[in-house]
Amino acid sequence: MKVLITAGPTREYLDPVRFISNPSTGKMGYIIAKECIKRGYEVILISGPTHINVPSGVKCINVETAEEMKQAVLRCFPQADVLIMSAAVSDWRPVKRAKEKIKRKKVWNLKLVPNPDILKEVAKIKKAHQKVIGFALETEEIIKNAKKKLKEKNMDIIVADTPAFFGEGKEADVVFIYRDGTTESFKKITKEAVAKHLISLLRFF
Ligand code: CTP
Repeated sequence: MKVLITAGPTREYLDPVRFISNPSTGKMGYIIAKECIKRGYEVILISGPTHINVPSGVKCINVETAEEMKQAVLRCFPQADVLIMSAAVSDWRPVKRAKEKIKRKKVWNLKLVPNPDILKEVAKIKKAHQKVIGFALETEEIIKNAKKKLKEKNMDIIVADTPAFFGEGKEADVVFIYRDGTTESFKKITKEAVAKHLISLLRFF
């Protein structure tokens, strides 16, 4: 089984020294990668900037921006059996990246444009045998919103969680939602336990 995993945040640059990002540590994706290696799967990890060492046996492609992540995913996906999209992709980027450092000024009206939705791009090239697993970070109406994402992005499983899990968060209430609409809920589960459960499901694919 060839598993393609994305992890970590993306950085969207304003100028050479400043960027917009989020507190994702990349931990979830790296734990999933390790779990896949343990089971003898082949792993390609596409990672935004993190402080985590790449688990041995994992081929890692480092990226910074959402656009770079999109290019890497679309290049690798045709050879993969499963895509696990755990990256916290920045939905917005500055309308332009200044070549030189922007000087201090009184008010800076920042203009942002939407980044591509990587999973929506993947949905266009997904073949019947390929499976896609995503994550949904929600602050309200968790199951309803996650189910909508699963459908819109043509996923097979979506793992819905709350900001309790984001960044350094250790435990959270998590719901696994499957393509047929069934759900499985876990209270105060760790990232390690989420990874174990998720990877145990791959054998049914
Ligand atoms: N995702 C993606 N491309 C983006 C944004 C998100 O592929 N530009 C993926 C994430 O990796 C995740 C899933 O889509 O697996 C859901 O991400 P999430 O941030 O929860 O939702 P969004 O689709 O960005 O919607 P919103 O931020 O409006 O809730």
